[in-house]
Amino acid sequence: MKVTVVGAGAVGASAAEYIAIKDFADEIVILDIKEGFAEGKAMDLMQTSSLNGFDSKIVGTTGDYSKTANSNVAVITSGIPRKPGMTREELIGINAGIVKDVTKNLLEHSPDVIIIVVSNPMDTLAYLVATSSGLAKNQVIGMGGALDSARFKYRLAEAMDCPTSEISAMVIGGHSDKGMVPLIEKASRNSVPVAELISVEKRQEVVEATKVGGATLTKLLGTSAWYAPGAAISEMVKAIALDSKKMFPCSCFLEGEYGLNDICIGVPAVIGKNGVEKILEIELSDAEKEKLVSSAEAVRKTNGLLDE
Ligand code: 2OP
Repeated sequence: MKVTVVGAGAVGASAAEYIAIKDFADEIVILDIKEGFAEGKAMDLMQTSSLNGFDSKIVGTTGDYSKTANSNVAVITSGIPRKPGMTREELIGINAGIVKDVTKNLLEHSPDVIIIVVSNPMDTLAYLVATSSGLAKNQVIGMGGALDSARFKYRLAEAMDCPTSEISAMVIGGHSDKGMVPLIEKASRNSVPVAELISVEKRQEVVEATKVGGATLTKLLGTSAWYAPGAAISEMVKAIALDSKKMFPCSCFLEGEYGLNDICIGVPAVIGKNGVEKILEIELSDAEKEKLVSSAEAVRKTNGLLDE
């Protein structure tokens, strides 16, 4: 299994580190445009191999896409991260061009690659890749819901003062401060619906804190978060590598599912060796459906900026 991570910034490097530590990849290539940066990150990470006990080979390159040849999976994290107070959507002007170029360069050397889009605004950039790369729709996945669901579980565990391992919870919809849809009605602690464990006010607090989870960290850190995004990426890549058929909420190209067409947005999907193995159309309450439709309208609006 060969994995390429484009972008050696905090998110890309964290993803590479977690992929290496989970040790399911033969080779991990980190590519960046900044001279020596990816090579340095790769060397530093390789020097942890005897300490962290992995055999994956990590290679860095400055812009040489031939080093990424025959990648099974490529993760696109390149572009600028948001600053405090910015929305993810405001990054489109710069990041759309970067992601388009990166995709073209990747495909020249790995025509059958599965691409995981992380760069923001993620749903729109996943749509850009899905509609301009020529790849089959199942080979383009946007990473957002796995991260947002992890933040949702964190907030629920905090509210119930329990281990996150007891929580089952999922976020669908757009990966955006206003558009994401934490499925609070479906969340549970060891199969007990959270509605039986915390008040409606507390549940609403958890939903709102989840939606701004990224912005909260950007305010604290001065830039976008990287540990949880990196970990979420590594879990999706692992599911592809091991053909786990694991369910993730992730941004998939929809062709009628949930009554939505010609859009990439977060829905539950089974991830395996072919990328999106199956999109799961789960039962949504009227309120959940309404939130998903409204989220899709916001994503479409951002998609419209691609043509400008
Ligand atoms: C986040 O929410 C980077 O969009 C990513 O942290």
